[in-house]
Amino acid sequence: MSSLKRLRPSKNIGPFSPRLIGLRILTYLGAGYIIKFMAEDNEFLTDVDFGQYRTLIYNESGIHFTSTNRSILESRLKERLREKGLDSPRSYYLLISKNSEELKDFLDSVTTNLTHFFRNDAHFKALENFVIPELLKIKQGTPNPTLKVWSAGCSTGEEPYSIAMLMSEILPPPGRFEIVASDISLKSLMEGRKGFYGDARIEGIPEGYLRKYCTRLEGGYQFKPEIMGKIRFDYHNLKHDSGQRNVDLVLCRNVIIYFDEVAQLEVIKRFWEVMAPKSFLFIGHSESLFGMDTKFEFVKTQWATFYRKYI
Ligand SMILES: C[S@@+](CC[C@H](N)C(=O)[O-])C[C@H]1O[C@@H](n2cnc3c(N)ncnc32)[C@H](O)[C@@H]1O
Repeated sequence: MSSLKRLRPSKNIGPFSPRLIGLRILTYLGAGYIIKFMAEDNEFLTDVDFGQYRTLIYNESGIHFTSTNRSILESRLKERLREKGLDSPRSYYLLISKNSEELKDFLDSVTTNLTHFFRNDAHFKALENFVIPELLKIKQGTPNPTLKVWSAGCSTGEEPYSIAMLMSEILPPPGRFEIVASDISLKSLMEGRKGFYGDARIEGIPEGYLRKYCTRLEGGYQFKPEIMGKIRFDYHNLKHDSGQRNVDLVLCRNVIIYFDEVAQLEVIKRFWEVMAPKSFLFIGHSESLFGMDTKFEFVKTQWATFYRKYI
């Protein structure tokens, strides 16, 4: 055989030969399998695990984890595993399935607790100029003139302390009011209960209020007993009835944004049950009851919008 003949591509080994195409497909499938295998091996939370955790969190708290915030769940889970010395999401899932205290800690770890004093200034202006004067008119001459407020999802307490300062400032003496501040984050509640806020966190409190309602300590400010005595911090999951009744003002701001529509409606209906006739409901600036089957009426004032239970 001449050398020329040896170099001429044979019908069976050219770039489009069935043998080469077959080989390429095999290589491609093999590589794909190896990549998939490696990815699964490195995947911290499998789709099945994610589905299970998502259902558990939703059933226990109403908080809805979407695929977009899966990474948040993953990082919080990693922290819990490290703390507990466990090596897989599955083993931690087994633990929280049978240990209700650990389940509480886990739920605490997946909540978002961002808050600050006098958050959404417009709400506080509406409270001062419209809501509180209205409530005072209603309460006048009634056997129980105490204004009952519920800060639902109060996080570390900035919201209830802001209301307590405002009410102390504007209610005529003897200024009867009480605030229940509740959350599912025990860590946040404990911070709120202490009533001490570091220098970096007191932003938003007017200077005059700071001087009047707080004591300067090293590194921050401590609320005075007359303000702290107005607030009762309570562990409460909005998935359940709080047992309260005749509440005049409910603030549940920036909480239901983490729930899906079904859970939101359940919570709003529960508020209706605890609220007194003609009472007020404030939800977060970016939250709405629009399109929801509720009996609350929308109130628009020059300061802010909120909801009212007229009957
Ligand atoms: C972003 S913070 C809002 C704090 C405050 N209301 C504000 O607007 O600044 C949301 C809070 O809702 C709480 N939360 C979430 N789900 C809850 C539930 N099912 N029951 C009670 N509190 C819940 C979280 O623990 C968190 O502290």
